[in-house]
Amino acid sequence: MAAFSLDHAIMPYSVSPIGFVRSCFKEKFAIPRQPQLAPAARGVLELVAPFDSGDAVQGLEQVSHVWLLFLFHQALEDQPRLKVRPPRLGGNKSMGVFATRATHRPNGIGQSVVKLDKVEPGKLWLSGIDLLDGTPVLDIKPYVPYADSVACAYNRIADAAPQLIEVQWLDDALSQAHNHGLRLGEPLVELIEQCLAQDPRPAYQTPLPERRYGVRFWDVDVRWHYPEPGKICVLEVVASC
Ligand SMILES: C[S@@+](CC[C@H](N)C(=O)[O-])C[C@H]1O[C@@H](n2cnc3c(N)ncnc32)[C@H](O)[C@@H]1O
Repeated sequence: MAAFSLDHAIMPYSVSPIGFVRSCFKEKFAIPRQPQLAPAARGVLELVAPFDSGDAVQGLEQVSHVWLLFLFHQALEDQPRLKVRPPRLGGNKSMGVFATRATHRPNGIGQSVVKLDKVEPGKLWLSGIDLLDGTPVLDIKPYVPYADSVACAYNRIADAAPQLIEVQWLDDALSQAHNHGLRLGEPLVELIEQCLAQDPRPAYQTPLPERRYGVRFWDVDVRWHYPEPGKICVLEVVASC
């Protein structure tokens, strides 16, 4: 057996994106913490040469879901962190980086299982994504149900999807969202409801009713407030300037 060389172990490797995601999420705020939590969150993975040839995706139409390995390109850091404070734990409890799916991690690599809605040479239509617009994707692998779904698996840190909160609408806001959804050809009302129901507000912030929150999905700005803790009311959905 060949001797293990430490030089080899610390040798840096370089990787290059095979494509970039065009996503409904234009900023990190209000993106669900994991894929599948907002089925209406859609995007297109645009492959770059030479992977934009039909050869690279041949057969993928037989697959319902894919794993994406990607770079947290807006969270890359020079200094590795050993401990992180995941939002899931309220942002005030630290945990070993490898026990979490935090974005700040060695090599900045993320992974998500997403639904594959349509395949074309050079383009994959995706839904249920948790990826920021412009995310560089390093690899795509088909989801293999018999191997990737572990019936007896547990995770005592994150044992269930986040609890949902109620989302209400002002009448005008709902009709604005409906109209923008028609214009975009996207399920915008569902996207807003699914993402806001996860309560994107940082857990340490008490949501005072007079405080306004906002985020951009596609090319619209969504604004809301908390009339009372645990309840969101969407105030307006307007074209971004
Ligand atoms: C907790 S991470 C989990 C991502 C992935 N499912 C994983 O487990 O590796 C999800 C968060 O990553 C952030 N995010 C998504 N794409 C990103 C990117 N390209 N750069 C930095 N942060 C990103 C979003 O704010 C999202 O809420």
